Amino acid sequence: MGGVSNVPLIKDGKRLDGRKPDELRDVRIEAGVLERADGSAYLEWGSNKVLAAVYGPQEVLPKHLSDPTKAVLTYRYNMAPFSVDDRKRPGPDRRSVEISKISAEALEKVVLLEQFPNTMIKVFVEVLQAEAGTRCAALTAASVALADAGIPMRDLVVACAAGKINDTVVLDLGKSEDNFGQADVPIAIVPHTGEIVLMQMDGDLTRDEYTQALDLAVKGSMQVYELQKDALKRRYGGVVDEQ
Ligand code: CDP
Repeated sequence: MGGVSNVPLIKDGKRLDGRKPDELRDVRIEAGVLERADGSAYLEWGSNKVLAAVYGPQEVLPKHLSDPTKAVLTYRYNMAPFSVDDRKRPGPDRRSVEISKISAEALEKVVLLEQFPNTMIKVFVEVLQAEAGTRCAALTAASVALADAGIPMRDLVVACAAGKINDTVVLDLGKSEDNFGQADVPIAIVPHTGEIVLMQMDGDLTRDEYTQALDLAVKGSMQVYELQKDALKRRYGGVVDEQ
């Protein structure tokens, strides 16, 4: 997020990749792609490629983390060394620890943890290729992987970002837009209730721009939500249970 508005990112109403301001990148989701995990999903979002795997509910290790009132949900967001232009140093860093924490908190709002006291549900997301928006892609895939594992949830969680480039509010920033844009606002919602379970902001927006960005991000999220449900229907057939 360079915070500059003079790098040309929009020309004749179109963005550098040809998208309109309110257009998402292409999103493709597949549920149940790994045999060893209890649940999994693969997601491509533009050039982002992420793989999510879920284990559990299972025994809590280390045992002292155990909660007699509910399951403990852990989330590990990890970028592969080869996912970015300059090799990413393997292992956790401040950014991945932050993303893991807020993503776990978002999922805790929908997973029926109280049904599985003294157990652990582990979510792992590997970013194989990154092109901006990976925290949203990761959380969206993780939510499908949890459903694929058969873990009871109130609803899926779906994430999408909006932001500002060249003084224009746009949906779903790509890499150059993220680098040279003025603001990026990733959010995650629970579609049925409209509850916002994750929100961050990088850069500056006026109050009006913030409202516009939020509105766009919710609309984008709802489009991706349809794709999440389609992925689960393709795997399991029929109608996904909507409470
Ligand atoms: O990926 P997301 O937009 O959620 O997070 P970010 O911190 O705003 O990062 C934006 C993009 O910067 C990532 O998607 C990667 O393409 C890139 N990045 C990178 O090249 N090396 C890193 N260590 C972290 C991010």
